[in-house]
Order: sequence, then structure tokens, then C-alpha cells
Amino acid sequence: QVLRTRTFILNLSVRLHTLIQSVFGGPVARAHTKWNTMSGSDPAAAGSLSEEFAVPAHVEEVRSLMAAFAEQHGAAGRMVVLITSGGTKVPLESRTVRFLDNFSSGRRGASSAEYFLSQGYAVIFLHRHRSLYPYTRLYTGVNLLDCLTLEGAGLVTVDQRKLPNITKVLKRYQEVKSAGLLLPVEFSTLSEYLHLLKAAAQALSSIGSKAMFYLAAAVSDFYIPASEMPEHKIQSSNGPLQISMKMVPKILKPLVKDWAPKAFVISFKLETDPSILLERARCALDTYNHQAVVANVLDTRHGYVVVVTKDSQKELVLTDEEAQREVEIEEKIVQNLSHAHIQFINQKG
Ligand code: PMT
Repeated sequence: QVLRTRTFILNLSVRLHTLIQSVFGGPVARAHTKWNTMSGSDPAAAGSLSEEFAVPAHVEEVRSLMAAFAEQHGAAGRMVVLITSGGTKVPLESRTVRFLDNFSSGRRGASSAEYFLSQGYAVIFLHRHRSLYPYTRLYTGVNLLDCLTLEGAGLVTVDQRKLPNITKVLKRYQEVKSAGLLLPVEFSTLSEYLHLLKAAAQALSSIGSKAMFYLAAAVSDFYIPASEMPEHKIQSSNGPLQISMKMVPKILKPLVKDWAPKAFVISFKLETDPSILLERARCALDTYNHQAVVANVLDTRHGYVVVVTKDSQKELVLTDEEAQREVEIEEKIVQNLSHAHIQFINQKG
């Protein structure tokens, strides 16, 4: 919807909280917590998700695809991981010209997908449209047309020096594709993300503890309800802009409690201030009662994370030597979590 109508995009690639202040300046958006006042019930679980967030037209179709994927791979004895990746987009106008964006390149999710596939998982990749994608992410800095030569008679050759390891990567990509091990699902807006995640949780419920949720997407904490959104482009001739946003319900709560109570659930905690990181991660574990939090700081996220569980805290670090060999921290994260997942399955049955 946004892609169709946009003429100018206020693409704000910084965290939403700081972003609201820095972009609009002066009086800052006020956050309302409507969910907290709702008669004690959990809004997302109670189905009120659809009241505040438009349901994407294709959600039922995607739910069926995901359910069939889970059933097929579950029956083959495979574990299935649902990876969320990329940032959500929150429109400021119904006919959207401007939106707020949460920062995430999608690298964490896309590279993790490759390592989960190497560990024998089937992967549902719920990702932001045009964010990094497994395997193709390795060539994002490359202009494809500069790598090809037209030899005549429809023959095109590839300059492999410009596409490092292309033969190996292509072979792996085709193996994964022909075995049907990767199911890509796209979102752009926060509404799409919330509904598709709920559908995924329900679709994976049939395989119980064999399902893992790896929630690496950067999800907005604030939004403007459709009923309060201007229809048309906000006019700058009306003067400085003040916006008022509501709190997004923490989707992790119903996911763990109601939608996928048997699954192995991993959330991510992103902070810019390292001194509060572990406390925030512990707080998330206590609040949502899931299996682990991967805690990371924005500036160091590619070289250092801490995997926090109820009774452990494991630092994963890339050494200089590993970084030189282009080892990725996601390989260590996935190794750590897939091992923990197997233990979890053995305990739960
Ligand atoms: O993509 P890259 O550029 O490689 O960067 C990776 C990353 C930094 C984005 C990733 O490692 C990461 O930290 N992702 C989570 C970022 C985030 O949104 O953190 P949070 O503190 O706002 O949310 C914590 C958790 O709550 C998340 O797992 C999120 O899925 C969940 N959440 C968030 C908002 C919301 N309304 N409901 C939720 O359940």
C-alpha cells in the first residue's frame, strides 16, 4: 500500500524512540498505553489485534503455507525455525507518503537463516521487504550487471572474480531451494508483521517443542491507530508537526503464553547503552518467561552478544583472527541455540 502511493519517504534509519525526538524536535510525541487499560485481558491474545491493526489480505493464504511447511518438515523429523528479520514500518498517513522505520539491515536474520539451514533446520524467513536475504546478502554491494558479459547469441558469462565463491553459494542455494527448506514471507508495515507472526505461531503449534522462534526483527514500540491517522499527506504549510503515538502491545507475551506455549522462543534485546543491556535482557526473560534473550549493543552487534537464559549468561565474541577469516557471530549464536533447543526438546518430549 505504501509502495503504491509514496512520493517521498521519510526513511528514518535510527531507533524509533530517539528518532521521534530528533526528527520532529521540540515537543515530543506522547505515548499512550491504551492496552494497559483494557479490562485486564491481553489485547493481542484477545483478538483485538485486528481492531487496531489492519489485517493483511493474504494472511490466511500464508498461514496455510506455513502450516503445511511445518507439518511436512515435522513429519520428516526436522526442527523448524521461524526467523523474523528487518525493521517494521509505521505509516503516518493512510495514503502513506511518510513513515517511521525501525533500524535493522536484516543481516542478523539472513545470515542466521543460512546457519540454521546448515544445522538441518527448515526455515520460515519472515522478513522486511527488500531487507537482506539468505545467500543473496553476500552480494549486496555488487552491481550484477557489472559481473556479466554478453557473448552473443544469448550467451552470458559471469565474472567470478567479482562474485566471490559464487559457485559454492549458488550450489548451496539451489540445494536448499530444491529441498524446499526455506519459506520466505515478507512484511513491510508493523500491522503486517504482527498478523503474520501470530499466523506463524498458530501454524507452528502442530510441531510443539520442535518449533523455534528467533525474533531478530526490530519491532516498533509505537504506532498511530488507523482511526487517528490523517488520510492525506501532512501539509508542511500547517507548521511544525507534533505527533502522538500509542504503545504497541508486546507481541512476545501472547506468543509465549497462548499462541506457541510449547515452542522454544528466543527474543533479541537491542540497546545503545551497554550499561543497561543485561538488566533489560533479564527483565524481558522475567516478564515473558521464554527460553533465552540474545542481548546486543547497536555498535558492537557484529562482534559481541550475550545469550541470557534463566540460569546462565554466555558471552559470544568474535576474535580478531576469526573476524579476519570472515567468521560470523551468527554462526556461534545459532550453534549455541540449536544445542539448547535439542536439550529443550529432550526435556519436553
Ligand atoms: O539486522 P541487523 O542490522 O543485523 O541488526 C540486528 C538487530 C540489532 C536488529 C538484532 O540483533 C536485534 O537486536 N533485534 C531486536 C531489536 C528490537 O526491536 O529490540 P527491542 O528491545 O525493541 O525488542 C525486544 C524483543 O521484543 C524483540 O525480540 C521483539 O521481537 C519483541 N517485541 C518488540 C516490540 C513489540 N511490540 N513486541 C515484541 O514482541
